[in-house]
Amino acid sequence: MKPANGLALKTTFVAFKGRALYHCAPSPHNFLSFRARVELPILMSVTIKTPEAQDKMRAAGQAAASVLTMIEPHVKPGVTTGELDRICREFVEGPLGCVSATVGYTAGGSRPPFTGAICTSVNHVVCHGIPGNKVLKKGDILNIDVTVIKDGYHGDTSKMYFVGEPTVLARRLVETCHQAMIQGIEQVRPGARLGDIGHAIQQLAEAAGYAIVREYCGHGIGLVFHEDPQVVHYGRPGTGFELKEGMTFTIEPMLNAGRAAVKELPDQWTVVTKDHSLSAQWEHTVLVTRDGHEVLTLRDGAL
Ligand code: MF3
Ligand code: CO
Ligand code: CO
Repeated sequence: MKPANGLALKTTFVAFKGRALYHCAPSPHNFLSFRARVELPILMSVTIKTPEAQDKMRAAGQAAASVLTMIEPHVKPGVTTGELDRICREFVEGPLGCVSATVGYTAGGSRPPFTGAICTSVNHVVCHGIPGNKVLKKGDILNIDVTVIKDGYHGDTSKMYFVGEPTVLARRLVETCHQAMIQGIEQVRPGARLGDIGHAIQQLAEAAGYAIVREYCGHGIGLVFHEDPQVVHYGRPGTGFELKEGMTFTIEPMLNAGRAAVKELPDQWTVVTKDHSLSAQWEHTVLVTRDGHEVLTLRDGAL
């Protein structure tokens, strides 16, 4: 197959999967049950990044990470999510010299264009919260998710913030979710399988009594925002797609304090827990290296 450009070599794999998820599917449930019934083989196209492409992914990852560090002191009671977005967008388009991957994003044309340079997901909002006039208050938990494009390549990362002091329950959920993401990342090396990542996350999360969101998953990333493979956050060890050096993808588990079920609001973006229980998410972009992995979106060297 012809490389997508001089930097990214495209390799095509045929993989048989019983289920598949679209990161941003309009009605994932219909899609899922259809797949589950007929068990269609799915053609996957996973890109292997050359060393030059890896350098660009590293630069994009570091740019994205710096947004999350920059915004930290602004996350305080009284600030609106729209104000946080304005500050992040000015930083991305100004000093970072990047383009926001989310402003105007339509997920393949199926949704109204997203308006934020960040997603702001507060408390029971699972993901894709739209920045606006929501005022943060003491005790809220907030996920900020940012994706930037630098030199054509995407860097995608998110973290949780506490607005003032969190409750004991909220802190435990947020810390468990962070640990689950780390356990998933630690599985990444050539020869490991996606099921190893999912399993590690699921083990830790469910042992702590939390539910894993199934409708949204991590994803391959590069010149394209959401590319193959789909990285689900549950699974069985030794199963699924095999990792190879040069692949880049995100790991971004979402854990709910209550039940796993989620629903999308009429704005066609905001995803909330059906039972309104608290939800947390962390995300990194990861590169498969010769002997393990490199987290491209570390903040000051930390996960
Ligand atoms: N950054 C999200 C992800 O982790 C996707 C956000 S799409 C948006 O894949 F339009 F909601 F911003
Ligand atoms: Co992502
Ligand atoms: Co993201």
